[in-house]
Amino acid sequence: MALVSATEMINKAHAGHYAIAAFNINNLEWTKAILEAVEETKTPVILEVSEGAAKYMCGYKTVATMVKNIYEALHITVPVALHLDHGSYEGAKACIEAGFTSVMFDGSHYPFEENLAKSKELIALAHSKGLSIECEVGGIGGSEDGVTSAGEKADPEECRIIAELGVDFLAAGIGNIHGIYPADWKGLDFDVLKKIQETTNGKPLVLHGGTGIPYDMVRQAITLGVSKVNVNTELQLVFADATRKYIEAGKDLDKDKKGFDPRKLLKPGCEAIKAKVIEIVKNFGSYGKAAE
Ligand code: 13P
Repeated sequence: MALVSATEMINKAHAGHYAIAAFNINNLEWTKAILEAVEETKTPVILEVSEGAAKYMCGYKTVATMVKNIYEALHITVPVALHLDHGSYEGAKACIEAGFTSVMFDGSHYPFEENLAKSKELIALAHSKGLSIECEVGGIGGSEDGVTSAGEKADPEECRIIAELGVDFLAAGIGNIHGIYPADWKGLDFDVLKKIQETTNGKPLVLHGGTGIPYDMVRQAITLGVSKVNVNTELQLVFADATRKYIEAGKDLDKDKKGFDPRKLLKPGCEAIKAKVIEIVKNFGSYGKAAE
């Protein structure tokens, strides 16, 4: 088995009314923990990388090589796609060359005509190489890698036009934001979501900012056409929490047990990631779907 494009798993999820979880990876430990969790539970998954995280990991080729090798070394049998998250025009092209199996082109900050032209070009390029591609209409609120957006809601008519280009799945802002939701967050706009699903003629939709959206709200979004849900901050929070507890308990200071060894120091965080991944995929409905 090899890494796959996300098209088939997303289309199956859309038809089966569940969502594929797309987890952002930050390093080798993240990649390994997520892959172990999905293999144990026979769950298809998308591993995604922001441009900033890819830079941190020494570039797209390093990421693609690392993910492919970990996938093989762990004898993973479930479908796994490697996806660029919020790619620029240049970033999407670079990932197509670097061996990713899926890319997102986020042209939502361009005037619509420019987003349309660039999306069209990149959809053709990605498809010519067998990759899946996600495009975006309407900014996702919050801040990720220095790009901040107030989170405007997508225009269903613009969504229709991008969907008709043949994009595989479409990110559309419906009041979702990246990072932790403010206490006065209004929730997802299901009316807009419904309209987008209608105008796009049933295109699989992507919900960004998965962290902190109550599971029942995510499940309602899934019934209205969301087939991919992105989660980043949530895994960072549980990793940091477990690591802090290990250090606060003074375990890193135990010289006899070598508690300072990174394999021990990072283990509780990795175990926390695995547990959270399993909880999330159960709630998104993708748990065990690779075994069906
Ligand atoms: P969160 O960090 O809010 O989970 O958002 C992840 C995301 O949407 C990545 O594109």
